[in-house]
Amino acid sequence: MRDILPPDSALWNRVEQTARSVFESFGFGEIRLPILEPQDLFARSVGADTDIVSKEMFTLDLQALEDVRRLLDDLISSTDRPVRFTGWLYELRQALKAAWETERIDQTESNRKAIDRLDAIYAQLFTAIADDNVVRESMEHPQKHPEIFDLIQDAMFNAVRMRVLPETAVLRPEATASVCRAYIEHGMHVLPGDAKLYYLGPMFRRERPQKGRYRQFYQIGAEVLGASDNARIDADVLEMLSMFLERLQLSGAKLYLNSIGHNAPNCRPAYVEKLRHALRAVRDQLGADSQRRIETNPLRVLDSKLPEEQRVIESLPRIADHLCAECREHFRQLQEQLTLRGIAYELNWRLVRGLDYYMRTTFEITATGLGSQDAICGGGRYDGLVELLGGPPTKGIGFAIGTDRLILSLQEAKKDASAAGLDVFIVWMGAAAFLAAVKVARRLRWAGLHVEVPAEEMKFRKSLSLADRLRTRYAVIIGEDEVASGAFSVKKLADGTQQTFGEEELVEYLRANRG
Ligand code: HAM
Repeated sequence: MRDILPPDSALWNRVEQTARSVFESFGFGEIRLPILEPQDLFARSVGADTDIVSKEMFTLDLQALEDVRRLLDDLISSTDRPVRFTGWLYELRQALKAAWETERIDQTESNRKAIDRLDAIYAQLFTAIADDNVVRESMEHPQKHPEIFDLIQDAMFNAVRMRVLPETAVLRPEATASVCRAYIEHGMHVLPGDAKLYYLGPMFRRERPQKGRYRQFYQIGAEVLGASDNARIDADVLEMLSMFLERLQLSGAKLYLNSIGHNAPNCRPAYVEKLRHALRAVRDQLGADSQRRIETNPLRVLDSKLPEEQRVIESLPRIADHLCAECREHFRQLQEQLTLRGIAYELNWRLVRGLDYYMRTTFEITATGLGSQDAICGGGRYDGLVELLGGPPTKGIGFAIGTDRLILSLQEAKKDASAAGLDVFIVWMGAAAFLAAVKVARRLRWAGLHVEVPAEEMKFRKSLSLADRLRTRYAVIIGEDEVASGAFSVKKLADGTQQTFGEEELVEYLRANRG
């Protein structure tokens, strides 16, 4: 975790502003997503066995329903004992009502119905067990009183349906899953055209911090969701990315591209088996992590950065030689589109990405000046993810830029526009001059200039020295004489030249000469 301070924050704003303007010119609109999401959203999409989900999530256990959860456990353990069950049901019903009133349980129509139903079941069970014979019989000969066990089942169903089972929220580690969740929740598939959405904001992963790797980091991302998986969409997304980086004048960025096929027997799974087979044959030349991955996720072996494994990995079978005909054609079309649009790329058959939802196109962009954490952007196609999360069949592609790393790379390359400082520092002496200073400052600020008026009166030299240290371009000097004559001096701090203007001309001059 770290703070971002001025003047760095000015560069952050410029980068984010550029993203908004470029993405909007491609027809994307901003989606603002919650930072807390249910844990299982990421387990189901990014993948329960990935590093992100299995090791790096910041989890918030929502303790609010602890009492309800405990009672539910008691209830579940007594389904074969009608009397005890009815007692626990009474307790649960009370706890649920209290939770409802204090809004620890969402006050939705379906939750209200479930609580009402539990009330009705409790009343029926209570009446039934008032008759000892019925209870004894239902224990010893359940077939004689199936209605009691039906009621118990009904009660269990309604208790569980209220979603009061353990509920855990996490700080989102990424936003593609959230975008898909929102796409489903808001029925965006019925909107005209593709849903083209971008987002900016913090993400959280409990990784070992180092340069370019933080536990709270920021992403600028974009996703296209819709009916078509045409490779032209992949190319559009990559063209948008390349225009964004060009606008920022980031030099030395490299786009790496791959296709990892899709999940059909004649495509990626067949390749994964071949790879596993080949890996088993060289098992003793690999480190412990890679050895384990041979069985769990052989594709991830290709990600290895261990120097001693590189030679072995280079000799493994490559996915490009094992894609099915459709995936091969999709990849060919994408490359054709990129060439037509003049977008440079390099193929990298080892680019498999560490999230489970990808298929076909995967890509990464690296930048200079970052050391080992040099990926500033990752993305790819994820057809089927929306469906996996309970939505309609949908194609998807997108990317996320690591803003922290992009900024670091821009700063290393000295493309830092945040060094600009102030436009105008107003040096004033005397109470009347202060009022004139405030008035002039207001007019200049309306014109969009960055203006500083010190609140405390300062000696002339001290004022100019502060203006200099704030990297100001012009000092406007207002003393009692200037107020009386209505003529203000402007000093250009870079070369010390000085001119005098009336208020109107002063505003005009500074406006025309802004940085
Ligand atoms: P990702 O590769 O996990 O992909 O992250 C994208 C980018 O976020 C990385 O390339 C990197 O620049 C930055 N990043 C990741 N972790 C950290 C960290 N701990 N500190 C600083 N920067 C970091 C995704 O998140 C996918 N959701 C991208 C995507 C969107 N795919 C399709 N649509």
